[in-house]
Amino acid sequence: MENSYILETHNLRKSFGGLVAVADVSLRVKPRTLHSIIGPNGAGKTTFFNLLSGNLQPTSGRVIFKGLDITGIPAYRTAHLGIGRSFQITNVFPNLTVEENVRLAAQSLGHDNFKFWSHYLHYSHYQERAREILEQVGLADQARLPASLLPHGGKRKLELGILLAADPELMLLDEPTAGMAREEIPRLMEVIQQIRQQGDKTIMLVEHKMDLVMNVSDWITVMHQGRVLAEGAPAEIAANEVVQAAYLGDLYGDLSEGMA
Ligand SMILES: Nc1ncnc2c1ncn2[C@@H]1O[C@H](COP(=O)(O)OP(=O)(O)O)[C@@H](O)[C@H]1O
Ligand SMILES: [Mg+2]
Repeated sequence: MENSYILETHNLRKSFGGLVAVADVSLRVKPRTLHSIIGPNGAGKTTFFNLLSGNLQPTSGRVIFKGLDITGIPAYRTAHLGIGRSFQITNVFPNLTVEENVRLAAQSLGHDNFKFWSHYLHYSHYQERAREILEQVGLADQARLPASLLPHGGKRKLELGILLAADPELMLLDEPTAGMAREEIPRLMEVIQQIRQQGDKTIMLVEHKMDLVMNVSDWITVMHQGRVLAEGAPAEIAANEVVQAAYLGDLYGDLSEGMA
């Protein structure tokens, strides 16, 4: 039983003054699945991720990762335990090339850091890993470009590459396609799907557009006003009338395109 979920939350709560952003959320994530968390803007999705990664301390409740209680453990430690969270462009060194950024990320959290390898072996190992990753995320052609010169969509791919470089067991992706040109989105979703299909990672994907996650998710949790409104396989969620009402409600009209 305790090994059947990689991540569990129990009544996880975060209040900001009088506002309850995450209201007693309990969910369980199966290993090597893609588990999406969807919901309108303001539903508490990003705050929930911040509680998992240790960027925020919960008001109450617990986070269990691989059977270990990690509640309130700071982000640098959850990263070393195998929880990877992308942070938009804050981890990117703008003057280094795209490839150097990915290589450094591989080195900084690489498991071989303390082994007595020669410098050269170290370097070529991580260099090769960086090239594989750039291939995977579709940035191989931009490898030598300074990161600052990437277009917005390229920067989002680089974030994903930097995250992959650290080889986390659990990847937390918060709206990875945000701000991307519409025609670039399917390619990035394909990359995420490929990572899922490789089968060695668990991916949690936060997204407010329901249509983006329907085809790639094994399981979907719907959040609404800090709470879990529904959860299930994509087809169940698509057919769920309570979810439809929340998404089609006037307040959330911007999301109704996702139901088409
Ligand atoms: N640091 C913060 N201080 C105060 N309120 C916050 C903070 N972060 C988020 N909130 C509020 O918590 C609610 C949930 O926000 P968020 O988790 O960003 O939602 P989502 O990612 O689903 O759009 C919103 O009402 C937001 O304004
Ligand atoms: Mg958010």
